[in-house]
Amino acid sequence: MENILIITGSLMNKRNRPIGVFDSGIGGLTVLKEIIKEMPDESTIYLGDTARVPYGIRSPEIVTRYSLENTKFLFSKDIKILVVACNTASSISLDAIKNSVSIPVIGVIEPGAKAAVRATSNKKIGVIGTEATVKSNSYTKAIKGIDRSIEVFSCSCPLFVPLVEEGWTEGEIASLTAKRYLDGLKGKGIDTLVLGCTHYPLLKKVIARVMGKGIRLIDSAVEISHEIKTILNVNNLNREQKGATLREFYATDSPERFLKVCENFLGQKIGHIEKIAVGS
Ligand code: DGL
Repeated sequence: MENILIITGSLMNKRNRPIGVFDSGIGGLTVLKEIIKEMPDESTIYLGDTARVPYGIRSPEIVTRYSLENTKFLFSKDIKILVVACNTASSISLDAIKNSVSIPVIGVIEPGAKAAVRATSNKKIGVIGTEATVKSNSYTKAIKGIDRSIEVFSCSCPLFVPLVEEGWTEGEIASLTAKRYLDGLKGKGIDTLVLGCTHYPLLKKVIARVMGKGIRLIDSAVEISHEIKTILNVNNLNREQKGATLREFYATDSPERFLKVCENFLGQKIGHIEKIAVGS
């Protein structure tokens, strides 16, 4: 009898597998958009945990449980690298995620911290993020891990996430909210500000206006996409095929709303999104 070679999905050329991205909800689309811009030939699978957003107000135990469940789902989709787009999950759960899978995992904190250190001249950096991210001190540790002499000033901006979700990214309310949160940081004499939350790049214009000229804003979405490109290059994992890229989207709740935001934000038709359940 002839030998029969059974080719399964997991034997798919590793290089052609998709990049997996998860976030607590829609905010990680800022990261996905940059990945697509930087690496248009790479296939992507995005999971938005819309049923359990926001993560930024939850305890570390819960954030880690949710993150591991998201990871398990994406890993089952045969991804070649996992991008933790959520700053809160990256701050709290990155080590646990890395320990749970056998593929490269990258979070947003290190790339953002590195870029901030490169950008600062006066060694005073501000960081804004969710309550959980600020409480975790993840950016401070990462920045000081590179240069101990840098001073880091952090501030959580809890109202920024609902403002973005509501689409109020410009105008009086966004400006007043930003002013209220950021005045304290301005007083510290920082010259660089890390936008340490997936949603904040969408408020970039307002934040830049409030902070004034001469303050560099670090968008972790841009930084992480550069880092992913480097990891794929170094590990010889870039997709060999050109075109016919896979764009898969999953949400844990309200897929129709997600689809609308997704298409608006990415400026392209998605067509299909699947509602799935992660965890038990
Ligand atoms: N994705 C979250 C982050 O970047 C923001 C929204 C949330 O609180 O879940 O921290």
